[in-house]
Amino acid sequence: MTVLQEEVENILRPLDLSDDDYHTVMQSMLDQMERGLGAATNDTAPIKMYPTYVRAVPDGTESGEFLALDLGGTNFRVLLVTLKGQEVKMDSKIFLIPQHIMLGSGKHLFDHIAECIYRFVKEHNLMERKLPLGFTFSFPCRQKGLARAMLTTWTKGFKCEGVEGHDIVALLHEAITRRGDLNVECLAVINDTVGALMSCAHTDRKCAVGIILGTGSNACYIEKLEKVEMAEGNEPGPPEMLINTEWGAFGDDGSLDFITTDFDRQVDKHSINAGKQRYEKFISGMYMGEIVRLALEKLRKNGLLFGGEGSYHMATRGRFYTKYVSEVESDDTDSFPMTKQIFQELEIETVTDQDCRLVRHVCALVSRRAAFLSSAGVACILNKMKRPEVTVAVDGSLYRFHPHFHDLMMEKTRVLAPGIRYKFMLSEDGSGKGAALVAAVANRILAEQKAKGNPETSSAV
Ligand code: GLC
Repeated sequence: MTVLQEEVENILRPLDLSDDDYHTVMQSMLDQMERGLGAATNDTAPIKMYPTYVRAVPDGTESGEFLALDLGGTNFRVLLVTLKGQEVKMDSKIFLIPQHIMLGSGKHLFDHIAECIYRFVKEHNLMERKLPLGFTFSFPCRQKGLARAMLTTWTKGFKCEGVEGHDIVALLHEAITRRGDLNVECLAVINDTVGALMSCAHTDRKCAVGIILGTGSNACYIEKLEKVEMAEGNEPGPPEMLINTEWGAFGDDGSLDFITTDFDRQVDKHSINAGKQRYEKFISGMYMGEIVRLALEKLRKNGLLFGGEGSYHMATRGRFYTKYVSEVESDDTDSFPMTKQIFQELEIETVTDQDCRLVRHVCALVSRRAAFLSSAGVACILNKMKRPEVTVAVDGSLYRFHPHFHDLMMEKTRVLAPGIRYKFMLSEDGSGKGAALVAAVANRILAEQKAKGNPETSSAV
């Protein structure tokens, strides 16, 4: 190895973890998950293991028309979902949530959401009908029933005043009432992981885990009801409940410090939720590009990349997008056309093939660590569930667009969860379909209760 190669190696080595490291991660995740489930330990557990009140996966008989909202990923969407057995039709519209709303007041956010619903309902000539609504709200919520969800803390890029600690269904209904021109009722709130699981389970009965690898990262799975000590009430139903793990917060007690590099520390320090969502910050799309940028900058400042030449863009936080990581790793390794195009955009003037190879190596290291850490999470859940065969529903832009994420995860999960048969299934539009499916079942239960003269909103599906 040349001296230069050795210098490069020294800078990048901390990004390369061993199987022993992944096993340690799994052990500590399992520990935190058990603490999250227990009523006596939940308070101090970083992984909160929220009960979702979703007790059963769909049985394929769900039908009707539903509105769905999807907030928490790259875009905000309103959807009209038509269910008819296995047939699902969806019509959706994307609305932007401008940065000033993401960081503004909660009232403003929910007024904006109500306005988007209004525009959608009007465009689709649905004003005269009262449609049940399912809300995919992809943030940590302590639920008290299907349609009562207190936001505990904002994650990803959101930070709206006056929402944490409040019931988001109530906030939505208040905004709808303020307008006075909408006739919709929210029957269920679900997390996007639950949406992914429900939507895959609609066609695959072995689906028992749902994960998101997108802007953020999280997982849900089916747990035995007797283990879910934090759930309130005891509605009749199957002896199981979906748990929204909120595994993104894993490590917030320092348990992942042993794998945390300087790059990770900087990402965390400059985020809007420093010290929080530590596991998510190793893995998800909101942070991966920035980890790569910091590593590239370090190599450059040591004269090991681009002949030491920097640029305003490369020095700008968040400017090396995670989609670039996927593009670099998909590039043709003979001439690196996409990689060169990216650095042209970033105004680095001289980029040699050697530079491109090193950039690719950095991207691959960061992606591999993210994929293997995600596998450690999945393997931890699979080992804990002890089912012989499980389908894992996956959604999220990172998983969808990265050229190797799926293969890397398959490879490492095999090592970390030996003896379990599993497959990863891409969830198609789980946030819309899942919310509609849960609302469908809630609506059916509500109708049954009304028929019996007990018009209480259902608290479990
Ligand atoms: C964040 C949210 C979580 C969501 C995940 C993926 O981790 O806290 O609720 O499921 O992002 O969108």
